[in-house]
Amino acid sequence: MAEQTDTAPRATSNRSTTPGSDSFKQYISSNWAERTDVLPPARDEAAFAAERRARLSAKYPGKRLIIPAGRLKQRSNDTDFPFRAHTVFSYLTGWGSDSEPGAVLVLEPVAESESESESESGAGAAGHDAALYFRERAGRDSDEFYANPEIGEFWIGPRPSLAQVAADLALTAHGIADLDAVLEAVDGDTLIIREADPELTALVDARVAAAVIEAQDEAALPTIAFSPASGEKEEVDESAQLEQDLSEMRLVKDEYEIGQMRLAIAATAAGFDDIIRDFARITAHERGERLVEGVFNSRARADGNAVGYDTIAASGPHACILHWTRNDGPVVPGDLMLVDAGVELDSYYTADITRTLPVSGTYSPEQRMIYEAVREAADAAFAIVRPGIRFREIHATAMGVIARKTAEWGLLPVSAEEAVQPQNQQHRRYMVHGTSHHLGLDVHDCAKARREMYLDGVLEAGMVFTIEPGLYFQPDDLTVPESFRGIGVRIEDDILVTPTGAENLSAAIPRTADDVEAWVSAAGALNGRSL
Ligand code: GLY
Ligand code: MN
Ligand code: MN
Repeated sequence: MAEQTDTAPRATSNRSTTPGSDSFKQYISSNWAERTDVLPPARDEAAFAAERRARLSAKYPGKRLIIPAGRLKQRSNDTDFPFRAHTVFSYLTGWGSDSEPGAVLVLEPVAESESESESESGAGAAGHDAALYFRERAGRDSDEFYANPEIGEFWIGPRPSLAQVAADLALTAHGIADLDAVLEAVDGDTLIIREADPELTALVDARVAAAVIEAQDEAALPTIAFSPASGEKEEVDESAQLEQDLSEMRLVKDEYEIGQMRLAIAATAAGFDDIIRDFARITAHERGERLVEGVFNSRARADGNAVGYDTIAASGPHACILHWTRNDGPVVPGDLMLVDAGVELDSYYTADITRTLPVSGTYSPEQRMIYEAVREAADAAFAIVRPGIRFREIHATAMGVIARKTAEWGLLPVSAEEAVQPQNQQHRRYMVHGTSHHLGLDVHDCAKARREMYLDGVLEAGMVFTIEPGLYFQPDDLTVPESFRGIGVRIEDDILVTPTGAENLSAAIPRTADDVEAWVSAAGALNGRSL
């Protein structure tokens, strides 16, 4: 784990031109200015992360908790996917897009006598000492900085020092080599976020299994043979419990998270504005959908951000494909274009917003009727949101409208009342997805929460989720009139539960048919294009 890589680590020796002579090494390693660390003030999120660690600490007394950021994932031979730290790591450290690959947060339980007086290091985890381990900046005395394309400063940029990260995150920081001592101490009371770093998890599993055998030997229980499989299973179950608890802890957002969500949504609104302003170029392009994706992503990058998931730019019948991300079709005047996109900030908080736009500036009568039915479903669902209701009631309310509308249009073989019965559900032919999911650090946030806390859970102020009903009439669906075929509509907003009700955080992005038409037309007029 702690091996320091001093030579090019991956298969580039067949084309490496790095000089290896002693005189070169001596020359490149000398005459560099002294580095002076300017220590930043703690970032805003640090105090919130400390409070989150304290809540986790209280739930796991006496347990050593290992929370890896994860490592770079290979894309192809010596190129990697962009790094993204594990969500839980980011939540508990406040380290987002500037996280170091391979970093590990450890909450080390403190002895009972120590925990009575507030532990000084690892602020915010009274029953634990929190410490961050990462590969700190390499010195000029190693060849890493110029010879290692994977981690070298000349190749991917400088890493921060321990002191910089400790100040920035208000956390004790250690070099990655010190993690060896933590691994040495691993015993049966150690839990790890397993999916974040499979290699480290395997090491921890091996240590736990060895520790269990040792404990059995010491207890002199020669007749009970240790079974690695059962030892491992228990570990997996407890670690799964840790992941579940963290998902459930994250269901209610703190003030920092809600602030980040507002910023992500405002940045997303700017991306939608840019798309409609560029409709003339988009409709002229043979792969207009790809240009839509490019315009949105370009605005995100220009504003210094990223996207939280692959942008869905689905024009015409592609809108009936729920996760259409190939985005290689044209954007044809007269069609609807469904754009599902969200900006992700440095903190990793992301928006998730869908608008279905009339490419020519106005909806046809059928398009408008379908669009407004979806909006009615969304509005009805939003109207019931307040603390105390169950999450699943939001979906049920939206589906009540979808069933009523599709029945009114003569699409269902049964009445709307019959359709909504659990044993029927014919209206779901036209909307097979759910209406809502939690949103935050992940687009599908808190995914490991139990059903009783999620779908069957009770809403609390501070929860953030989407409301995103839709209607999708496949091009070959014989149950619908020909004029409906190939129309797909989704309207997706990001909702905050407030103490008295709900706030639609994305309400400023036009969403009624009239408002969307005015928005698209105004953008067209501004750019001197005829619709
Ligand atoms: N963007 C994926 C979703 O709406 O869930
Ligand atoms: Mn969504
Ligand atoms: Mn979406």
